[in-house]
Amino acid sequence: MLSDNMKKALNDQINAELYSAYIYLSMAAYFEDANFPGMATWMKAQAQEEVGHAMKFYAYVFDRDSKVELKAIDGPQTEWKSPLDAFETAYNHEKHVTDLIHKLVELANKENDHATRSFLNWFIDEQVEEEASTKAIVDRLKFIGDGKPGLFMLDRELAGRGSGGGE
Ligand code: FEO
Repeated sequence: MLSDNMKKALNDQINAELYSAYIYLSMAAYFEDANFPGMATWMKAQAQEEVGHAMKFYAYVFDRDSKVELKAIDGPQTEWKSPLDAFETAYNHEKHVTDLIHKLVELANKENDHATRSFLNWFIDEQVEEEASTKAIVDRLKFIGDGKPGLFMLDRELAGRGSGGGE
């Protein structure tokens, strides 16, 4: 069974992952509206991936004979100034999630909770990818600037991400 502290922290992380899904779905809606269907596809896949992250925590809490307690999810931002602004928000959000995962690791270490510590390894690795994939797109968008042909090409490229894709 999880300690009360750990149970609360893991339940908070379920909320944070679902909020991540919500903010990426909100970005997808922004991109649909701004006529960037490929970026919208990328964000919808990202949102699905975040639900998958939440479900990993959900299953783990039950596996440890503890209770999942869902809380209200905050409303996400709905407008961005540009594709670059949206992807910079995504990159900064992923850095924030990395901090949350690292805090969970510190708590597991403090409590000598070896099982949770081991469970979190997958998320430590995943966050490296999450930061790298959003940062790569931020860098591309900075390079493209306001150039419409470049934005069009990047949008077509990002459309190639399948639902639930993890690149
Ligand atoms: Fe679940 Fe993108 O971190």
